[in-house]
Amino acid sequence: MKTISIGLLGLGTVGSGVVKIIERNQDKLIHQIGCPVRIKKILVKNLNKERDVEVPEEKLTLNPADVLDDPEIDVIIEVMGGIDETRAYLLEALKNKKHVVTANKDLMALYGSELLTVATDNQCDLFYEASVAGGIPILRGLVDGLSSDRITKMMGIVNGTTNFILTKMSKNGSAYQDVLKEAQALGYAEADPTADVSGLDAARKMAILSTLGFSMNIDLADVKYEGITGISEEDLVYSKRLGYTMKLIGLSSRDGDKVEVSVQPALLPEHHPLASVNNEYNAVYVYGEAVGETMFYGPGAGSLPTATAVVSDLVSVMKNMRLGVNGRSAVSPQYSKTLKKPSE
Ligand code: NDP
Ligand code: HSE
Repeated sequence: MKTISIGLLGLGTVGSGVVKIIERNQDKLIHQIGCPVRIKKILVKNLNKERDVEVPEEKLTLNPADVLDDPEIDVIIEVMGGIDETRAYLLEALKNKKHVVTANKDLMALYGSELLTVATDNQCDLFYEASVAGGIPILRGLVDGLSSDRITKMMGIVNGTTNFILTKMSKNGSAYQDVLKEAQALGYAEADPTADVSGLDAARKMAILSTLGFSMNIDLADVKYEGITGISEEDLVYSKRLGYTMKLIGLSSRDGDKVEVSVQPALLPEHHPLASVNNEYNAVYVYGEAVGETMFYGPGAGSLPTATAVVSDLVSVMKNMRLGVNGRSAVSPQYSKTLKKPSE
């Protein structure tokens, strides 16, 4: 029975969760895929950092080649974040015929199309469920569960950090900076939280959702976004008195050939279901012509919820390995290579 070897890029909030789930659920993984899984090598930035999870010292490396060029490694899990350096690593991994699982929406929103093309050309899988809405299986929901329908609109909360901040500010009257620090300590915020609070992180996720939901290549540059930095505690207090709750809302709609995608703070009546989505939780309504209204809800950030999505992608890769269908699986969430925005 062959052991599947994993190369992990990053051992922070999500990476530690991945190690824990692979260790804790080894019996379930073996049951599903028929062989054991081990993490062989882990790329980090600092060898001496105290970690949330115990890992033998010899598994850690500062040299990307130890992971990307090791012929024994079958699958690369990328949970280090960043764009240019990470893109180069993943292109190299795919060219080395390694399957890739990533949680990186910054990268997928900009270079998803390129990476998916290289993956397909190399008969490799590239899965990225964790890149949108943490532990909620929404990408699979779109490309599998709703694949037969025409999606017309998606609307929801897709950033955990800003939802955590707005919840704490309006419920407890907490100060913005204090709650942001709390969100960082809990591992919800990005290494640099500017993308969270400016709305860019949500815009990246809406670009990915819209690309998959509408089967078109939606450019990040076409997503209009605004964040929560201009919102004061007073705004939230007054809104509440008037019976409204402030949320950072992503909206994506398709009307015939016209697609609009945006992210902005919005006042929702208190009885609106999205008004009661609190803390780091996310929720997205997806409207389809045939199915009508569906709602996806769950933890949108954090170590174990996000790692669940990552390791579930790993299970899909390994199932495909067993069947010999990597890179050509019908259920693989892929950007369309041929469809363009109607305006192009
Ligand atoms: P962290 O900052 O907690 O961890 C990043 C890890 O990557 C660290 O272990 C760090 O090493 C390593 N790393 C970073 N840059 C480099 C580099 N240049 N070379 C080698 N190692 C590097 O990030 P998260 O775990 O929070 O996020 C990881 C990815 O997952 C990001 O793309 C993020 O957007 C995404 N994501 C995060 C979620 C969350 O809730 N946190 C949810 C969904 C997606 P060291 O430890 O030595 O510093
Ligand atoms: N920083 C992101 C958030 C992590 O707060 O939603 C999950 O993508």
